[in-house]
Amino acid sequence: MSRVILPGAAIGVLGSGQLGRMFAIAARRMGYRVHTLSPDSDTPTGQVSDVEINASYDDLDRVREFARGVDVVTYEFENVPLATAEAAAEFAPVRPAGRVLHTTQQRLREKGFLSGAGLPVAPFRAVRSLDELTVAIAEIGLPAVLKSADFGYDGKGQSKIEQPEQAAAAWQAVGAREAVLEGFIRFDGEVSVVAARGLDGAFVDYGVVENRHARHILDVTIAPAEVPPRVRARAVEMARTVLDQLDVVGVLCVEFFVL
Ligand SMILES: Nc1ncnc2c1ncn2[C@@H]1O[C@H](COP(=O)(O)OP(=O)(O)O)[C@@H](O)[C@H]1O
Ligand SMILES: [Mg+2]
Repeated sequence: MSRVILPGAAIGVLGSGQLGRMFAIAARRMGYRVHTLSPDSDTPTGQVSDVEINASYDDLDRVREFARGVDVVTYEFENVPLATAEAAAEFAPVRPAGRVLHTTQQRLREKGFLSGAGLPVAPFRAVRSLDELTVAIAEIGLPAVLKSADFGYDGKGQSKIEQPEQAAAAWQAVGAREAVLEGFIRFDGEVSVVAARGLDGAFVDYGVVENRHARHILDVTIAPAEVPPRVRARAVEMARTVLDQLDVVGVLCVEFFVL
């Protein structure tokens, strides 16, 4: 069942930012070849890859040709369209699968999955109009954070609401499109777990790290996190549940608020 992809093989990366760059450097040190595809050229990932393809994610013929030229495909960020991952999967294994991408790239699907798996999430409501936002504020209470359901990263597409009068401005700020209202959590800190799962279900975690944000952007990560062993064990156990329940083959990161 398991097929080991050994050094010398080519790994395709959809996306070409800083995460892809770190990935490509690590892979090439191990002897893998790296191909990257994104709509940009001379990218952080492309500069350290064997092959850089400049194409739209929607150009599925170019995506298929890209996948034909590699042994396995991954992505370096979650905003790759599902159709792109599926086109690539016609010619090479895609890890994690497009199915996992589909769940994790949209906050409502993601939160629906997490609560269905019995994992704790901040209280939330789906919001598709200003009227629904008003109802959601009444149900969840304030302060709360309104987040666009998709294409968010680094706090983009997010707006904190402290007073009911701010609802209309927040709705406009997230682009007046499908969103999620989340109760504001007064957390002690934030940690995350990067973990990997194999075709055979084998699980490994890379420890628990603490993340500090500045202006909604990750600023400093401290490894290992200075949290009690109980918190560390719980975070790893929840990460394992996420990877198992999503049937992930590949690498995934789970972020946590520590209360
Ligand atoms: N419900 C919340 N309560 C308190 N802080 C929040 C909440 N949601 C987000 N934040 C803050 O904003 C940051 C970015 O939010 P997150 O949902 O992780 O978005 P992204 O998908 O952009 O990483 C979080 O790491 C946290 O610092
Ligand atoms: Mg985050």
